[in-house]
Amino acid sequence: MTKHNYEIPATDPLACCEKRALIDRVLDENKELPGATMVVLNELQSKIGYITKPMEFYVAEKLNVSVGAIHGVVTFYSFFTTKPRGRHTIKFCMGTACYVGGTPQLIEKAKQLLGTEVGETTPDGEITMEVCRCVGACSQAPVTVIDEEVQGRVKPNKFPQLLRKIQGKETA
Ligand code: FES
Repeated sequence: MTKHNYEIPATDPLACCEKRALIDRVLDENKELPGATMVVLNELQSKIGYITKPMEFYVAEKLNVSVGAIHGVVTFYSFFTTKPRGRHTIKFCMGTACYVGGTPQLIEKAKQLLGTEVGETTPDGEITMEVCRCVGACSQAPVTVIDEEVQGRVKPNKFPQLLRKIQGKETA
């Protein structure tokens, strides 16, 4: 087994006994499976919610694969995140129809209103902004996907209303 030197910050899931036990359990249950890397990373993303750099090192060590291979998988698939997602996720479609139909302007409006960048989460941990590829609703461009629900024809002036709807979910 390759030994790596890496620091584990106090906020990392590996620094929490419960989460570390969960990570070990996922590794133990899946390490012998074919395609173990993908299975383990998928499980960790689902159960922990994100995959940190120390977790990449830890998984590489336990599965005896290179950190580069783990990092390659984590960065290639948009399903994986390296930071916790917010309670809600807003994805902006960057497919051609949506791009031409106004997604960049919509993102600018969202950045102003939420005070955060694409790929980041608002400081209150509520909303994560992401981009995605075509979701097959091109005729409704520009499209956003909010917590897996597709919203069509979202123009910048409609965005504040959409935000209120998301926030309203909390009290519904
Ligand atoms: S390009 Fe956005 S849904 Fe197809």
